[in-house]
Amino acid sequence: MIEKLEQHREDFNARITVVSALRELKQLRTDFLGKKGCVSLMLKEMRSLPAEEKPQAGKHINEFKGSVESLLQAKTLELEEKSGQASVAADGFDTTLPGRGESSGSVHPVTQVMDEIISIFFSLGFSVEEGPEIETDYYNFEALNIPKDHPARDMQDTFYVNEDIVLRTHTSPVQIHVMEKQQPPLRIIAPGRVFRCDSDISHTPMFHQIEGLMVDENVSFGDLKGVMDIFLHEVFGKQTRLRFRPSFFPFTCPSAEVDIECVMCSGKGCRVCSSTGWLEILGCGMVDPAVFKFVDYDSEKWTGFAFGLGIERIAMLKYGINDIRLFFENDLRFLKQF
Ligand code: DAH
Repeated sequence: MIEKLEQHREDFNARITVVSALRELKQLRTDFLGKKGCVSLMLKEMRSLPAEEKPQAGKHINEFKGSVESLLQAKTLELEEKSGQASVAADGFDTTLPGRGESSGSVHPVTQVMDEIISIFFSLGFSVEEGPEIETDYYNFEALNIPKDHPARDMQDTFYVNEDIVLRTHTSPVQIHVMEKQQPPLRIIAPGRVFRCDSDISHTPMFHQIEGLMVDENVSFGDLKGVMDIFLHEVFGKQTRLRFRPSFFPFTCPSAEVDIECVMCSGKGCRVCSSTGWLEILGCGMVDPAVFKFVDYDSEKWTGFAFGLGIERIAMLKYGINDIRLFFENDLRFLKQF
């Protein structure tokens, strides 16, 4: 029995050393460990041995079985590794390399600034309204106290669809839509796209504005100043100085423009602020009674203020961007920085 076993062992060792494929290895396993393999046969034969020899024979057979199993396992691993490497060499596909992973996008800087401004006004009790981007002459000009022959129409390079239809040149027409639908008191902001026929380092034919409107009893220029103060300090930092300059807009009276201390040079004077130390940020004023008349508001009872600002301009100053066109080129190297 022991001799037979040693014969099998030799036989097995000889065969496993020449095995070069998993298929051959499988056959080897069947021949030695299968139902009709030599280990099974030996165990069967063991039954006819005298009782006192059985334990010893069993021990040897089991030991042989164990060593065959572990040698087969080691050879399996070796062959699998070899075949993996061979397939990498063949088609350049390495299953062990880590995956590429997802690269997530980011919110566009204009949207980021818009969201920030909306949340500031939201905390001051303003709600968000929207209006159409394609407007009639009436909403874009007429009802804002800019009649056909008014020189203020020259300030805006309008895209005309036809004589009566325009791409809105500002978000101010949303004021009219809102006041036609709602009665005071109201506090709204209207963010959105506007269009002007202009293109250079600081102008694009499409850009974004936010309009604001508050109407109530006894709203004063002081309220306007207070709200602008809170808003601009929130966006540009508490220590930023502001100034109100008298100005003109047909739909507000009195009107003002608000400047902030130059964020690039802290007011010392530089190229960005044309050596003035100040940057123009927004237009605002008390709603002109002529506008209230168009929407049937009693200007004896109600007063209000309005303001409008360009979002790209704020984003450029906040992030130190010197060319507005970068916002709309969709260059990921630029967008990924925000
Ligand atoms: N609509 C003006 C523009 O586009 C900005 C503006 C100025 C809006 C004064 C206002 C305002 O509501 O009161 O240049």
